[in-house]
Amino acid sequence: MPAGPDRVLITSEQIQTRVREMAAQIEADYPDGPLYLVSVLKGAFMFVADLARALKRPSVRIEFMAISSYGNAKTSSGQVKVTRDLDVNIEGYNVLIVEDIIDSGVTLSYLTRILQQRRPKSLEIATLLDKPERRVQPVNVKYVGFKIPDEFVVGYGLDFAEDYRNLSEIRVLTG
Ligand code: PRP
Repeated sequence: MPAGPDRVLITSEQIQTRVREMAAQIEADYPDGPLYLVSVLKGAFMFVADLARALKRPSVRIEFMAISSYGNAKTSSGQVKVTRDLDVNIEGYNVLIVEDIIDSGVTLSYLTRILQQRRPKSLEIATLLDKPERRVQPVNVKYVGFKIPDEFVVGYGLDFAEDYRNLSEIRVLTG
C-alpha cells in the first residue's frame, strides 16, 4: 500500500483559474449551435462539471462514455475497450472530448478513431492534464490545461485503485 499523496502539484485555485481560461477559449471557438461535451468516465467527471459550469454559451450537451485501459495498475496495459457508449447520435454536431489526462495516448487515439467514424461536424479534445513525455500514440489535442512531468498524479477525478478522486487539487502519489 503506497503512502498518502502528500505533495500538491496543482492547487484547486490554479485548476479553477485554468478551467475558466479554457472555457473562454472554447466559447470563442464555438460561437453558435449545440456543443457536445463527451466526457470520459470516470476520471473526467470533475473537470467536465467545472468546465460545463464555466461555459456560458446557450447549448452545452453533456454525454458520457467509459473506456477502460488501466485497471488498477500504475501503467497502461495498452488494452482499450468501450465499457459504456454514447446514447446519442453525434453526426453533424460539434463534439469536444473532455478528458482528465493524456498519458500514452492509447485511449484518446482509439476514441477519436471510433467517434470520427460517426461523422461529427467537428471533433476536438480538451484535457486538463497532459504528460507529453509518455506519449506512445500521437494525439491531436486542441485544449490542454497543464503539461505535467511523468509523475503519478491523483485527485480532481484521478484515482489510484479508485481512491483520491474526490480531492479538489492534483497531488503526486508518493511511496
Ligand atoms: C485514464 C484517463 C484516460 C486514460 C489516459 O483513465 O482518464 O482515459 O487513462 O491514458 P492513456 O493516454 O495512456 O491511454 P483510466 O483508464 O485510469 O480510467 P478512469 O478514468 O476511470 O480512472
